[in-house]
Amino acid sequence: MSATAHKTAPMPADILARKGGAPLVSLTAYTTPMAEVMDGICDFVLVGDSVGMVLHGLSSTLDVTMEMMIMHGKAVRRGLTRSMLVIDMPFGSYEESPQQAFANASRLMRETGAGAVKLEGGEVMAPTIAFLTQRGIPVMAHIGLTPQSIHTLGGYKVQGRGDTGDQLITDADAVAEAGAFAVVLEKVPESLADQITRSVAIPTIGIGASANCDGQILVVDDMLGLFTAFKAKFVKRYAHLGDDAKSAMQVYADEVTSRVFPGPEHVYSDKVPKA
Ligand code: KIV
Repeated sequence: MSATAHKTAPMPADILARKGGAPLVSLTAYTTPMAEVMDGICDFVLVGDSVGMVLHGLSSTLDVTMEMMIMHGKAVRRGLTRSMLVIDMPFGSYEESPQQAFANASRLMRETGAGAVKLEGGEVMAPTIAFLTQRGIPVMAHIGLTPQSIHTLGGYKVQGRGDTGDQLITDADAVAEAGAFAVVLEKVPESLADQITRSVAIPTIGIGASANCDGQILVVDDMLGLFTAFKAKFVKRYAHLGDDAKSAMQVYADEVTSRVFPGPEHVYSDKVPKA
């Protein structure tokens, strides 16, 4: 089934059932209007903690709070009827204990209407993923480059090259075994993404992990050319809306200063309209 064929939003079990089938389509969203545009085009929409960098000008995702995620999660939920909503658990909201993760994941789902949460980490987070999934919280895992760990990873580097690839294979198996319904693979070599995708029982969602994955995700502002502070190699720009917006604003400024705008069609006469 293609994403556009959905009449209602898929459930985590529907995403899981797409393993090895038609590639899953996904983007991030942070606002109602953008969610409305992608509704039904995407199988699932992620309210990523990338919101901190993309919309709030933060230098990393580490300062994103539960309150920010809830505010953007509610906004995106209002724009979706045909795509599933997944929401990121922010840094510090789940790592301490499975109980802490349950309290915050259940709050995120309750207050935003999300159908699942996403959290970063592999083998080490497997007990938490099992705790959540056994208690009714569908979990999407995220391994490879996990931006909440940039300080321990040493920056936004490719993960899993050489011998370190074995740990990522272990991570993927551990999160699948723990009950995750899908796993994001970020910034890993193509051959490793292929190996993981062929061996793990749940769909892999690639971002910088090649077309060998079971699906793809991109940050919407990256692919539309709205976020241009930096561009990772894995980003393809499908539009240049930032440049288009700048040109439009320059024309507006010129028309305001030359009194071309507002024109006669934009003003009100003093005639009282007939009832
Ligand atoms: O926060 C985010 O946007 C993500 C991605 C996988 C795109 O985690």
